[in-house]
Amino acid sequence: MTTLEATGRRVVVTAFGETPLDAVDNCLSIEEQPPPDPGRLRPTDVVIAVKSAAVGWVDLLMTSGQYQHMPKPPYCPGLEYSGVVAWTGPEVDPSAIAVGDRVLADGLLTGPRSVGDYQQYGGFASYAVAPAKAVLPLPERFSFDQGCCLLGNYETAYHCLIACGALKRGETVLIHGATGSTGLAAVHVAKLVGATVIATGRSEEKLDVVREQGADHVLCSKPADGAPGFREEVKALTGGRGVDVVYDSIGGAISLESMRCVAFGARFLIVGWAATPFVARGKGQRGAPNANVLPTNLIMMKGLKVIGCPTAISTLRAPSIRGPRLAQILGWVEAGSLSPLVGRAYPLARVREAMKAKWASDFVGGCVLHPAE
Ligand SMILES: NC(=O)c1ccc[n+]([C@@H]2O[C@H](COP(=O)([O-])OP(=O)(O)OC[C@H]3O[C@@H](n4cnc5c(N)ncnc54)[C@H](OP(=O)(O)O)[C@@H]3O)[C@@H](O)[C@H]2O)c1
Repeated sequence: MTTLEATGRRVVVTAFGETPLDAVDNCLSIEEQPPPDPGRLRPTDVVIAVKSAAVGWVDLLMTSGQYQHMPKPPYCPGLEYSGVVAWTGPEVDPSAIAVGDRVLADGLLTGPRSVGDYQQYGGFASYAVAPAKAVLPLPERFSFDQGCCLLGNYETAYHCLIACGALKRGETVLIHGATGSTGLAAVHVAKLVGATVIATGRSEEKLDVVREQGADHVLCSKPADGAPGFREEVKALTGGRGVDVVYDSIGGAISLESMRCVAFGARFLIVGWAATPFVARGKGQRGAPNANVLPTNLIMMKGLKVIGCPTAISTLRAPSIRGPRLAQILGWVEAGSLSPLVGRAYPLARVREAMKAKWASDFVGGCVLHPAE
């Protein structure tokens, strides 16, 4: 059965930019999208009429080829999306996925972050094609916006805090970039584990939201006189001991300051480097001429366990780590104890504005694009 009729629209990255902002200004176009032709699809394919697509940091980095995984331009961005099933192939189990179902796409198995043929179908489009194994039911209580802000953010938070960081009830975790989409998910996950959360960000206003979202303490990390200063506050909050775990998605001066307010033997989780995003060359050139540098003196004297936490890479190398992670996240969703916060939504025609707002961290939580508006 098919409901594929109307011509749609899609965003296309025509070439890699020098930086994400260069790509947004000079390498992005909005094109007509004919509905997918079922005659050319696989019997296990599903066509999704996209309702909402997450605009993620990784979507931005990918447009300049500065992310480790590069779909070949021209490609349609949008790692994660949700929508309504518009067509299913004859070999798709109708009791699992049927036309009209509300679903979300698994960004590791389909779309620009996946490996293989489905890389070409991103969520910044009216229609996306995904293999049935990449299509999950949208949790009943979730909006489409929440659905596309679930897996990447919470899987990252789980992988970093629990699988890599072994965060436990009663411990204290310092979460940087807590206003961001993965950072806020980390706040939620850490609270579900039973940890005390100290969250940082550069804006008091946004941190108020993070506190409402569950953080026990919030600290403004905005550099005063060039250097962020939160170590004394962290020490005061931990009775002079320092934190057990650091969730560091920011890097640079924030990492250094964090290493001065950790407990001996703390786990230091390297999640990302939002403050120094240009470690690699632009336009998809390889090499890391601006690689980050480690403060080895602090790492040794504090007995730190510095752990790199690349969720997608670790999962591709050891797929078995994913089952327990998904089961726990979907269990929390089912129990009603986990709910992604979506800070901004844009119609497709305003994709450039959406991507720039994401890059500038203009809001708290997720950012989404609505292809049908
Ligand atoms: N390890 C993994 O598997 C994994 C998975 C996904 C993402 N990541 C990485 O995690 C990082 C965050 O991703 P995200 O999706 O959460 O991004 P996001 O939603 O844009 O959040 C990033 C947060 O970082 C802060 N920030 C941005 N630029 C900064 C700067 N120059 N200095 C200090 N703080 C800055 C902002 O908070 P304030 O404005 O409040 O300061 C912002 O809310 C990225 O580096 C990304 O590559 C890693």
